[in-house]
Amino acid sequence: MPTVNTPLITIAIDGYSSSGKSSMARQLAKNIGYRYIDSGAMYRAVTLYAMRHGMISDGQAIDIPALIAALPSIKIDFSVDGDSQSTLLNGENVERDIRSMEVSNCVSPIATIPEVRHALVAMQQKFGQEKGIVMDGRDIGTTVFPHAEMKVFVTASPETRARRRVDELNGKGVEASYEEVLANVITRDRIDETREESPLRRADDARLLDNSTMSISEQNEWLLNLYRTVTSGI
Ligand code: DC
Repeated sequence: MPTVNTPLITIAIDGYSSSGKSSMARQLAKNIGYRYIDSGAMYRAVTLYAMRHGMISDGQAIDIPALIAALPSIKIDFSVDGDSQSTLLNGENVERDIRSMEVSNCVSPIATIPEVRHALVAMQQKFGQEKGIVMDGRDIGTTVFPHAEMKVFVTASPETRARRRVDELNGKGVEASYEEVLANVITRDRIDETREESPLRRADDARLLDNSTMSISEQNEWLLNLYRTVTSGI
């Protein structure tokens, strides 16, 4: 927990899909008593809204003008219940729905729409106004909080990430082929890295964390040590 003498800071954790960054960001926030915001959940919530309002057909064609017009009426928030956090879309708990395969398959193109990004970046900056926040995503250290005191860029080989994703899906009782998941990981990396608006890239001042061969507790310790170093130098 932060003490009265520890300054509140902003912590940006970016990285590739299935790199484990959300779990470690959530754990860090818990360890230091900060608020945790999953920015990917916000892109997923907008995608769910678009699906429910008939703005996406065949999982492909997006009625972009209709979605842009609806953006001011999309409110996203988070509720915390003990250790679990839920995403709220206009007050409704949509945590389960935004993790569905349909949403996962449609979210990347939605996240390339500049107006969607501008609206969500503004909401994310509002969440971070008071500092004391850990936010994870793809563009947090580069675009959302370019002045964050602590920035981390998490990576692992595509093969390691695909293996983790298969294990995660199998754990939920979902069958998944390693080859298919690996292809999906590589495709998502390419979309995230090459989109024009806020592509995924490491901020120049972000610390690189390659966790291919690290255990979860080693990663948590690494982050906590970095947090202590950063706050002790302020
Ligand atoms: O982290 P995730 O898989 O839940 O993210 C869902 C999608 O949102 C993914 O395609 C990348 C995109 N995203 C983004 O473009 N910018 C962010 N800050 C967070 C997520």
